[in-house]
Amino acid sequence: MATNRSATYNDTVVRLFAVAAVVWGVVGMAVGVFIASQLAWPELNFGVPWLTYSRLRPLHTNAVIFAFGGCALFATSYYVVQRTCQTRLFSDALGMFTFVGWQAVILAAAVTLPMGMTQGKEYAELEWPIDLLIAVVWVAYAVNFFGTIGIRKVRHIYVANWFYGAFILAVALLHIVNSAAVPVDMTKSYSAYAGVQDAMVQWWYGHNAVGFFLTAGFLGMMYYFIPKQAGLPVYSYRLSIVHFWALIFTYMWAGPHHLHYTALPDWAQSVGMLFSLILLAPSWGGMINGIMTLSGAWHKLRDDPILKFLIVSLSFYGMSTFEGPMMAIKTVNSLSHYTDWTVGHVHSGALGWVGLISMGSLYYLIPRLFGRKQMYSTTAISVHFWAATIGIVLYIAAMWIAGVMQGLMWRAVNPDGTLVYSFVESVKATYPFYVLRVAGGLLYLGGMILMLWNTVMTVMAGRSSTVSVPQPAHA
Ligand code: HEM
Ligand code: HEM
Repeated sequence: MATNRSATYNDTVVRLFAVAAVVWGVVGMAVGVFIASQLAWPELNFGVPWLTYSRLRPLHTNAVIFAFGGCALFATSYYVVQRTCQTRLFSDALGMFTFVGWQAVILAAAVTLPMGMTQGKEYAELEWPIDLLIAVVWVAYAVNFFGTIGIRKVRHIYVANWFYGAFILAVALLHIVNSAAVPVDMTKSYSAYAGVQDAMVQWWYGHNAVGFFLTAGFLGMMYYFIPKQAGLPVYSYRLSIVHFWALIFTYMWAGPHHLHYTALPDWAQSVGMLFSLILLAPSWGGMINGIMTLSGAWHKLRDDPILKFLIVSLSFYGMSTFEGPMMAIKTVNSLSHYTDWTVGHVHSGALGWVGLISMGSLYYLIPRLFGRKQMYSTTAISVHFWAATIGIVLYIAAMWIAGVMQGLMWRAVNPDGTLVYSFVESVKATYPFYVLRVAGGLLYLGGMILMLWNTVMTVMAGRSSTVSVPQPAHA
């Protein structure tokens, strides 16, 4: 397929999703900074119901995970599956349908969540009509992705596609099972499950949303874009296969670590803890495989800001997948649960891993999609990298300190058994850390705005055509 490959690929849908990812990144992170500011200065809701923290928080999580992360996953998976299978997308119409459908889901979320319409399940807040639309779009995505694999021109299925494929299948399964509900009217429904079963299904979903939406798909990015940007093959292809099977097998069982010390049977909590500890091994195997791809070519990190994004994302992946198993140990969880430590853990994974790997991959993609040799400003990529990295460190360090402090204050008791601190004292002690988080968030958001500017300049300066820059087949 050395000749005329570009004409055989559908890059229109990739372009649309890539630009949408950058735009939604700015929107979702701006809402994040706004709610972070509300935690420091609560009067920022101005007494307007749809500006209250409780309504904007799910807007933030939905926007960053499903709009920013989702569009980045659609863009990269459509790009990677075509290149590595050396064939055009199975169906252009389905590709466009997934783009329009996914944007409709995002807009519906942006309207209904601030109005207070919610199923009350974390990361699955959207009401049942939107859930149905998600299911239809997702099935179309699955047909298109696996259809493309089906018509591939090379025998081998490159490992990135395994990760993307697992992400697509698992998310379909999780979404359909967890969203089962009895509708009351168009805007209200009740979960099909009750009591502790509802909690277990929800956190089986919630944890695997982390494992498959926030991890497996992004590992697909790692296995394609790191070798591409480094110009080197994956460190160990054999390890990548072991990594795949070990990771997808283990993730499914770890959900109960979200329900320690609850009505869930104790043995189920212990199973969750055990599988979380085991999860450290495949997670680190994958991280090492990604980082060691640079083995012998570390100097490339010095002057390639895109590679910096990709490699530093892996160090945050390693950090959060070390921290997660530790927090899954019951005694540690008794300190961390309900505190900002969890929020710090979430954002070391979300900002550090998901955010940076997406940004690096998009910086690789955007110039190629718009017929340019590189982004409009390489300096701006570097500035973005440093703003984001310093922002993450401020954010997570503030939350770690605040979280451990809260946990210790809440459990401190006087010799007579009364509490040493009232709750409000812990809130007061947390205040400076909330302000520090706003500063970190502003830096991270500032970097993302710079990326939007760089993207607009690249698109405007580039010749917009369906022709991609020629590249070697695949890593
Ligand atoms: C400018 C960047 C960001 C800021 C300032 C920010 C801020 C916040 C704040 C204030 C919360 C609420 C914490 C609480 O309830 O106490 C939150 C929750 C959350 N954010 Fe972000 N965020 C940012 C970016 C992101 C990104 C990029 C992602 C994902 C890719 C993300 C994922 C989440 C998740 C999953 C939660 C829920 C955490 C939990 O329930 O423990 N955030 N964020
Ligand atoms: C080996 C891998 C991991 C393990 C074992 C793990 C474990 C945990 C544990 C024990 C909690 C706290 C549960 C609680 O007290 O309620 C947690 C929360 C969370 N983790 Fe992880 N984690 C891992 C990796 C990650 C990564 C890479 C990300 C993000 C990309 C992530 C995102 C989250 C989110 C969003 C929550 C908050 C859920 C909520 O309460 O809303 N985790 N994780």
